Amino acid sequence: LMAAVNAQACTGCHGADWAKTSMGNKNVAEMSKADIAAALKGYKDGSYGGAKKGLMVGQVSKYSDEELDAFSQTIGK
Ligand code: HEM
Repeated sequence: LMAAVNAQACTGCHGADWAKTSMGNKNVAEMSKADIAAALKGYKDGSYGGAKKGLMVGQVSKYSDEELDAFSQTIGK
């Protein structure tokens, strides 16, 4: 059973508008849907990320690639 991504788990770090950059991350609100999907799946498989990627691995590893793709379509450009 896939659980929909809970955006409330993200807003503390990324902001409700996805524009917060205080942890050294990109402004997610300015990213394309495709780039967000690639980033989220990349954190899960280890192919994407910077010095703080460990924070994101824990956020995305519980979701399927399909769920991350679907959620990415709801945010970004
Ligand atoms: C990076 C989404 C939860 C902290 C990113 C990026 C995306 C994203 C798309 C790529 C932007 C980039 O390359 O800088 C999400 C989603 C979340 C979530 C959808 C919830 C499911 C969190 C939480 C934290 C966090 C809870 C803080 C504990 C960060 C940091 C980066 C990042 C520090 C940059 C990591 C690196 O590559 O060095 N996030 N995020 N995120 N996120 Fe999240």
